[in-house]
Amino acid sequence: MTRIGELAGTGDAAITALLDAAFGPARHGRTAYRIRLGMAWFTDLSFAAFDSDGQLIGTLQSWPVALHGPDGRETPLIMVGPVAVVPAMQRHGTGRALMDRLIETVDLHPGDPLVMIGDPEYYGRFWGFSADATGDWAVPGPVERHRLLTRAAPGVVLPSAGSLGPRGTALVAGAAATPAV
Ligand SMILES: CC(C)(COP(=O)(O)OP(=O)(O)OC[C@H]1O[C@@H](n2cnc3c(N)ncnc32)[C@H](O)[C@@H]1OP(=O)(O)O)[C@@H](O)C(=O)NCCC(=O)NCCS
Repeated sequence: MTRIGELAGTGDAAITALLDAAFGPARHGRTAYRIRLGMAWFTDLSFAAFDSDGQLIGTLQSWPVALHGPDGRETPLIMVGPVAVVPAMQRHGTGRALMDRLIETVDLHPGDPLVMIGDPEYYGRFWGFSADATGDWAVPGPVERHRLLTRAAPGVVLPSAGSLGPRGTALVAGAAATPAV
């Protein structure tokens, strides 16, 4: 039986070991890490999955980021990820349970739109993420366009242009963001 709870209180070493197992140690160079560089994860929007022995088997973290518009305006976004399940336990519904908890939480008190880099076949199928808004967004590193996904409350229109990066920091045009590939 899998239990979903808060990630806060889980030690950094356990989280790191799980992420290394799911993604490999080279994960720090990934574009997603650069988008949220220097930010601290939201404790109320980050979750852990535990097995029946209380062992950590999955994590989901959410971070403050923003789309920095060409006019200097910042649109706050919540970056979701990594979502990770230990390899031996994948495809047993744990990732889905973690994401369900996040989506239940954000839908209860709709706030900033979500953004993530992930498989649209998974995040679109269950939670309605799509790449429709992000075609012209600049990101600080390579990304496959169809995997740069957002999910906003009904009626919210996201800007069509801007640079994704950490929240609350002035981006110098062209310095931190490069067009995605
Ligand atoms: C991606 C990941 C989080 C999914 O969690 P999981 O517990 O393994 O998957 P679930 O059991 O919740 O999957 C539910 C359904 O989605 C499907 N699915 C799972 N991962 C998928 C993917 N990447 N693409 C498409 N479908 C996927 C499953 O086959 C299953 O389908 P079914 O209900 O028709 O059988 C997990 O496999 C993982 O940690 N992968 C490595 C790290 C990673 O790539 N993370 C995502 C980027 S942040």
